[in-house]
Order: sequence, then structure tokens, then C-alpha cells
Amino acid sequence: MQKVGILTSGGDASGMNAAIRAVVRTALYHQMEAYGIHLGFEGLMAGNFDPMSRGSVADIIHRGGTILQTSRSQIFMTGNGREKARDELQKRDIQNLVIIGGNGSLRGGYELSKLGINVIGIPATIDNDIVYTRSIGFDTAVNTALEAINRIRDTATSHGRIFIIEVMGRHCGEIALAAGVAGGAESILIPEIETDLDEVTRKIKQGTQRGKLHSIIILAEGVYPVMELAQEIEKRTGKDTRVSILGHTQRGGTPTAVDRIMASRMGMAAVDFIVEGKRNVMVAEEGDRILPVPLQEVIRGSKTPELAMFEIARILSI
Ligand code: F6P
Repeated sequence: MQKVGILTSGGDASGMNAAIRAVVRTALYHQMEAYGIHLGFEGLMAGNFDPMSRGSVADIIHRGGTILQTSRSQIFMTGNGREKARDELQKRDIQNLVIIGGNGSLRGGYELSKLGINVIGIPATIDNDIVYTRSIGFDTAVNTALEAINRIRDTATSHGRIFIIEVMGRHCGEIALAAGVAGGAESILIPEIETDLDEVTRKIKQGTQRGKLHSIIILAEGVYPVMELAQEIEKRTGKDTRVSILGHTQRGGTPTAVDRIMASRMGMAAVDFIVEGKRNVMVAEEGDRILPVPLQEVIRGSKTPELAMFEIARILSI
């Protein structure tokens, strides 16, 4: 009998629960035993396992966060940590491990696979920076940011202010670009493109001359210290400038239909891959298709956003 362990790792992302549900139910459908591992790699090394049933994943498809909880483990990054993890799985005769997480988690999974465990990755991170695929949680995060942008636009217009809205995306401008294009921002500042503050200022001034009442700047975290940027913009434009940092609001909340459906398809595919005998792959979504991509390929780098989106934003925000 095949057994499968499931864990969530790294920063949580809305839709992780829908993926857990899909993995557990598909495993049971194929007469496999499913084990939930609590607190990511930390729980794996500590032997924190629980058998999962249909009922243990009931009523979670709509919930943000992860019922299995998560962690960012330093110890797992060491050889000793990974050997401990392998031993805990082998002790229970669990041959397969489904890891739901981002780049760091998939990299950890790849290292574990070298010790003989069959690791199947499911991409889940609001950053959407995993190569070959879209990630669970991104759509929800963008929609959360968009709702905030809409609200801020109202108050910005009422006061004739500039707003800088900082969104997440540690080294990646995906959320900023998507939310900025969908929210009609005047400027989008992302790590992949050098910021030209002269252009940002010019746009604001042109807008003001045409009678525009507000300006929205979307800033990906880490590109610029947001308070300093606000002072600089205020100095250059002479306009009242406010800051709003959306932070972890983007990580929680009920997943969108897009994320729930993607998580359900990916969770099911992860188990199907095990049944088909595939080893050490990530479930990837390419267009309408779900494909296996070797983990070895996935960990080579991280995705950069489509810069065509930046061009769309630049031209439409004149
Ligand atoms: O990896 C996802 C992410 O949300 C990044 O965008 C952000 O910088 C980081 O996690 C923050 O993580 P935490 O506060 O959980 O350490």
C-alpha cells in the first residue's frame, strides 16, 4: 500500500487548504493512506504526523491559511535535519511526500528527494515567482490588494492626494504589476526594473495639469524605503502624499475561485503523478494543462514577471 505525507511550508498562501483537501481525498480515492504533517519541515523532523480522513479536510476549502500550519526551518537546511526528516518518514513507511509551498520549500524538497523520498511539489506562494507555473495564493493576494487600491482611490480623490501603496513580493514584482494594472495605477515600482523617479514625478505633474484629482503609486516591498519615497515625492510635486502598507493582509482571507480551482486540480494531479509512478516533480499549470516538471528544473531559479505587463501599465497610465 502506498502512503503519502502532506505538509505546507514557508509563507502561507490562500488556497493551501483547498490543496490539502484535494491531496487527501484523491489519496483516499486511490486506496492510499494520507498523513498530515504539522508545522512544515519542523514538524516533519519532530515526527508530528497525523493520519488524515475525509472528515479531517471537511469545511476547509474556503478557509485561508493552512490547517497544517507552516514554518520556515533553518535546521532542515542542514544535512542532519534532512536525514532526521527522512528517518521519520521511513519509520512510518511513508514513501511519498507532497510539499505545498514556495521556492525555498521546493528547494528543500529537492534535497530531501536525494535521500530516497519521492517528493511531489505543489507551487503555493503569493509571490508567484516559481518558474514554469502560476502559484496558489497569487490570485487571492492580487484581489486583496486591488480591493485596497479601490478604497484608497476614493479617499485619495476626495483629498486630492498622492498615495503610495506598498504590496508584498520580496524579490518579485508580480503582485505589484498585476494589482497596478488592474487598479489603474499611475506608476508601478518593481525590483526587476530600475525606478525612474523623474518619470514618476513627470506623470504626476502632467496628471495634475489635466485636472486629475489623485495619483496612485504601487510599490513592491524592498524596492525603496516607502516613507523616504513619500517624502521625496511630496518634495518634488508639492502634493500631499500618504503611504499605505498592505503587508500580511495579502496573505490571509478566503481564497478566490481561481485559487480554489487551481489548488483542487494541482492537489489531485500530485496524487495522480504518484499513482503513475512519477518521481520528484512539481505540479505545474501551463495554460489549461497540468504538467509534471522535474524539481531539479524548478529549483534552478525564480520567475521574473512578464515585462509586457509593465509596458501595458506605462502606456495606459499616461
Ligand atoms: O514569500 C512570501 C512573502 O509573503 C513575501 O512576499 C514577504 O516578503 C515574506 O513572505 C514575508 O514573510 P514573513 O513575514 O512570513 O517572514
